[in-house]
Amino acid sequence: MLIRKPGEFRYSDVTPREVYLRRREFIRSASGLAVGAAGALAVPPWLAGLSAQRGQKLPGVKPSPLSTRDEKVNSYDDITTYNNFYEFGTDKDDPAKNAPGRLKTNPWKLTVEGEVTKKLELGYEDLFTIAPLEERIYRMRCVEAWSIVVPWVGVPLSALLKKVEPTSKAKYVAFESLYERGRMLRSEEAGIDFPYVEGLRLDEAMHPLTILAVGLYGEKLPEQNGAPVRLVVPWKYGFKGIKSIVRIRLVEREPPATWNIANSREYGFYSNVNPEVDHPRWSQASERRLGEFFRRKTQMFNGYADQVASLYTGMDLRKLY
Ligand code: MTE
Repeated sequence: MLIRKPGEFRYSDVTPREVYLRRREFIRSASGLAVGAAGALAVPPWLAGLSAQRGQKLPGVKPSPLSTRDEKVNSYDDITTYNNFYEFGTDKDDPAKNAPGRLKTNPWKLTVEGEVTKKLELGYEDLFTIAPLEERIYRMRCVEAWSIVVPWVGVPLSALLKKVEPTSKAKYVAFESLYERGRMLRSEEAGIDFPYVEGLRLDEAMHPLTILAVGLYGEKLPEQNGAPVRLVVPWKYGFKGIKSIVRIRLVEREPPATWNIANSREYGFYSNVNPEVDHPRWSQASERRLGEFFRRKTQMFNGYADQVASLYTGMDLRKLY
């Protein structure tokens, strides 16, 4: 995410991952950090450690017909080492380095409350039993104009919302991430308010494509990707995918959303992927898929228009971005 004024970009914000990592390796080798005894270039130590570390297999995961079938899935390393999770740092490689040691996921408590008939509290193990686990391979598009294809493991968010029986006043769903002072950055260091918050309209939250993810690549979610439970809404920019959720509230009015609070001119509440509405500082017409050299054209609603466009009939998507 970019909240700096023009001229204040960090290299990692605007540079393709391959070039960025190559530059980091160059800097490390130049400073002697990644040069082995024989002088050969070694894999950066934090990357080497990560590749070896894999999560726990989730049993009984069924493939979903809602998965994209025609695209190459990104590698586990792509998905788990190039992240945004500002609680653990503002560079793309910070979450993989910092979240695993600092994010404590067990025990966990997820509360679902607000305009509901049956308030619910879920413990860590309950997170894996909300509904049968499905593998959902989704295209994900970041507002920074890169994209990635991820084999999530999750359940439809609607399954959880149905359990709590929303009242007739429930119009929106508000989400809140864990925030632990001392283990995570302070707001002043990250440049955004904590806890991280997000929201969806109730019909968006109930849409079959919207999932709560508890895993990827058939395994429990790694910390840097939002363990133990995070939101995935594939037709919206990635920042709507709030991580490490501790509270879900059904509410009457549009809830606050972190990037919209940080900079409402640049980030709206809806944040639907829209190649026709540029970010004030860069185009959204194309994107770079991690692992590819040539840019791709960005598709309306990230390619999910057939399934979701009807949610926005009659809305001016240039104004309500
Ligand atoms: N959730 C929390 N709690 N904190 C964050 O900084 N970053 C968001 C989103 N969820 C973020 C978050 C942004 S900007 C993006 S692009 C996605 O997480 C990235 O998800 P990924 O790291 O699994 O690719």
